[in-house]
Amino acid sequence: MSNNDQKPFQIGDIIMDNRVVLAPMAGICNSAFRLTVKEFGAGLVYAEMISDKALNIRNKKTLDMLYIDERENPMTLQIFGGDKENLVEAAKFVDKNTTADIIDINMGCPVNKIIKCEAGAKWLLDPNKIYEMVSAVVDAVDKPVSVKMRIGWDDERVFAVENAQAAERAGAAAIAMHGRTRVQMYEGKANWDVLAEVKKNINIPFIANGDVETPADAKRILEHTKADAVMIGRAALGNPWMMYQTVKYLESGELMPEPSVREKMDVCLLHFERLKALKGEKVAVREMRKHASWYLKGIRGNGKIRNAINLAETEQELRALLNNVVEERDEDELVLA
Ligand SMILES: Cc1cc2nc3c(=O)[nH]c(=O)nc-3n(C[C@H](O)[C@H](O)[C@H](O)COP(=O)(O)O)c2cc1C
Repeated sequence: MSNNDQKPFQIGDIIMDNRVVLAPMAGICNSAFRLTVKEFGAGLVYAEMISDKALNIRNKKTLDMLYIDERENPMTLQIFGGDKENLVEAAKFVDKNTTADIIDINMGCPVNKIIKCEAGAKWLLDPNKIYEMVSAVVDAVDKPVSVKMRIGWDDERVFAVENAQAAERAGAAAIAMHGRTRVQMYEGKANWDVLAEVKKNINIPFIANGDVETPADAKRILEHTKADAVMIGRAALGNPWMMYQTVKYLESGELMPEPSVREKMDVCLLHFERLKALKGEKVAVREMRKHASWYLKGIRGNGKIRNAINLAETEQELRALLNNVVEERDEDELVLA
């Protein structure tokens, strides 16, 4: 595994139980999903990114995004922004008013809306800007500050090592890096060689990210990059089992079986219950459509059910459809990997 097998995975004074981390995902990583993934063994969970400006004007929906269930800790709240003043103010608010363990700054978001505000991946072109922004936040808060970035802007401008070193010099307590450039968006393959180069050149904890689809991939990325931890995003969608399977695999090389149809639907409904408690029935049912479709992955004949779920408006309809999935099948039937 990694060089750091013997050392616990630690950021600031926060010690994690293991090296498996849930990636921040906008529109997905709210408390309902994070807690569910945490219960499946993740060592650290990241929240979806939060706009500094929206937080600073105390936008109600944004304030709601700060909710953290105490069973989630250790957890990281991620903020993004374009100017120092707003970013620092938002970081101070998170520092004083939430139970997050770590504050993360987003330097990886590739979407135009965010780049236009000089936020997200835009800073990857300028290590000095990274230094300036990170040191301003570090100076203003008590919680450890981490940074999540991509390897660079485009193939010609991969300043991964310089950028990571700038964040380290500025006082960042950890760095998570996705092995793609901004221009790549989600295309092509994540470049694990660059991640390995970064790890070699910094002394703070490093979390490697990108294209970990299986527990075996997690082991490979840790071996290849010597990172302190592995971050998993899309492979955890509708699949919190990925977390315990990965933890177990890293510990013992044992590959746990896929869950049964009944287990999958039970956890999907638990996730829904939590989402309903956060956002109310109407919003929860709508948001659950995409999640349910992910939970249904690997279940035989799921196409028709997915279509029906996309039309569900009420809890009753959603529950009936998911219960039907179990009734129409042998409930012990295992989901296909
Ligand atoms: C739907 C979606 C939303 C995302 N939102 C965020 C975000 O809010 N903040 C962030 O730093 N990265 C975000 N990402 C990037 C992921 O954290 C991660 O870096 C990327 O998906 C690569 O990891 P994976 O191959 O394990 O999915 C998002 C990715 C997806 C697919």
